[in-house]
Amino acid sequence: MIVFICMCLVTFWLLYHGLNSIWKPRNFPPGPWGLPFVGSFYHISGDYSRNAKTLVQKYGNIIGLKLKGVNVVCINGYDLFKQVMTDNPKCFSDRACQLPQTIIRGEKHEGIVTTPYGPQLLAHRKLFYSVLRNMGLNHYSFEKIIIEELPYLIEELKACVSDGKSTINPCAVFDYAALNVLAYFTFGNRYSYKDEKFKFLLGKNLKCFEMMSKINTPSFLFVSYIPFLYKIWLPHNARVIKEGCRDIAEFVESEVTYHKASLDPKNPRDFIDHYLIEVTSNHSHLFTDSFLKMTIMDFFQAGTETTSTTLKWAVLYMVNNPEVQEKVQNEIDRELAFHGMPKYEDRLKMPYTEATVLEIQRKANIAPIGLVHVANKDTKLGKYDIPKSTYILPIYESIHHSHKYWKNPSQFDPENFLDQDGKVGTRSTFMPFGGGLRVCLGMNIAKQELFLFFVTMLQHFKLQLPPGVSKLDEEYVPGFTLQPKPYEIVMSSRF
Ligand code: HEM
Repeated sequence: MIVFICMCLVTFWLLYHGLNSIWKPRNFPPGPWGLPFVGSFYHISGDYSRNAKTLVQKYGNIIGLKLKGVNVVCINGYDLFKQVMTDNPKCFSDRACQLPQTIIRGEKHEGIVTTPYGPQLLAHRKLFYSVLRNMGLNHYSFEKIIIEELPYLIEELKACVSDGKSTINPCAVFDYAALNVLAYFTFGNRYSYKDEKFKFLLGKNLKCFEMMSKINTPSFLFVSYIPFLYKIWLPHNARVIKEGCRDIAEFVESEVTYHKASLDPKNPRDFIDHYLIEVTSNHSHLFTDSFLKMTIMDFFQAGTETTSTTLKWAVLYMVNNPEVQEKVQNEIDRELAFHGMPKYEDRLKMPYTEATVLEIQRKANIAPIGLVHVANKDTKLGKYDIPKSTYILPIYESIHHSHKYWKNPSQFDPENFLDQDGKVGTRSTFMPFGGGLRVCLGMNIAKQELFLFFVTMLQHFKLQLPPGVSKLDEEYVPGFTLQPKPYEIVMSSRF
């Protein structure tokens, strides 16, 4: 009898999840039928940009799918982006809350990136901006921290300089610099690039990021369907992420403990101090120790790899487009002279350089689907019905690389961002930081980092192809962010 009941339960469970994983709601956007349990997983995941392109040809700009039982809608083209991000942002401002998020941020999905839209998110986004202001670091003066990092960046790049013939890969330097800026903001001090603690933090951070792109293995799909199994067993890639996040959390926790012991409420030193003051003075349940820990992890995980990956593409595009590199260097030499440290406001007199940084972001399109937005109520998109909890996957390639919005999208051309008077114009179809109410929290920090790191690098160094190579490969490695394939260049000092 017990065996019979168990078999019935298992059959019911299989039928329910099997059907739910392929059944689509009424008037849902068109899209391919998937397989039981995995849904359309193999239609879209992996190389999202390319796979979406194939689906667009068959189904149009809005594609409805089922992935692991979840309703998913891929949006392509600016009109749909506008409807989601600008016209109706509140409706599409929740985040995914499935097993990957549980592994990264724990069962409560704490932290800015994973928390749903609501009072806690808004309070934290507000606190972040007010801390910047209180630290004298409003959007345009966060650069104090970045400028402090520049001499170390130059020194480290100098150590990479080749003799004019042998080749090097300078990319690791950008990981160090990007993490250090955020470490300074959060912990109140920068680290030496040789510091073992710092290397540990960076290594764990990068490993977690790498594995996030590889988490969706068949065995992970299996675990996703069995609640609580993940507590006992996880496939290798997911386990690496879980252990990496645990190690980073312990690191952050030790910093929070140190800050608590040495806090002087009248003289807050950094983000942690400001947050701790908020916890005690505000008595609000919105601010907690564990949310603080996860928020700091968000800064490191959302803000390090994205910035450094963009700079890795910057090097590649400068090597492949020597005429652009030369024009940028002429502008730098004219406006900054050889030894002047750049400031962010210098971009106003260096339009070609600023346009080049924007073009690097457009062409590299490093965050192919940004972060998933989730509908927080039943709504409509175009003529289709979108039920509550539907995941919206914005395919950024469909706006950053489309002939509809750019003269020659497959070319690297800074003129894309210059108007007839040679000034940098605003482009609504350029969204490297996402949009709506979940737009990248660190957008203004990242813009300053990219400009200042890029200018400093080209001010001091000439980047060239290795002898006998006619072009570096511009093909990306697909993943959560799009990485350039590993490359070697010749780098020489300009003076
Ligand atoms: C070139 C560098 C960067 C790029 C390309 C980038 C891109 C993005 C994108 C596409 C999103 C998703 C936005 C959306 O959902 O529509 C995002 C979110 C986020 N980013 Fe960035 N980002 C960068 C740097 C940074 C930095 C330096 C920080 C440090 C504070 C940061 C912190 C965050 C956070 C906390 C979120 C989540 C915001 C929320 O969910 O409310 N990012 N970023």
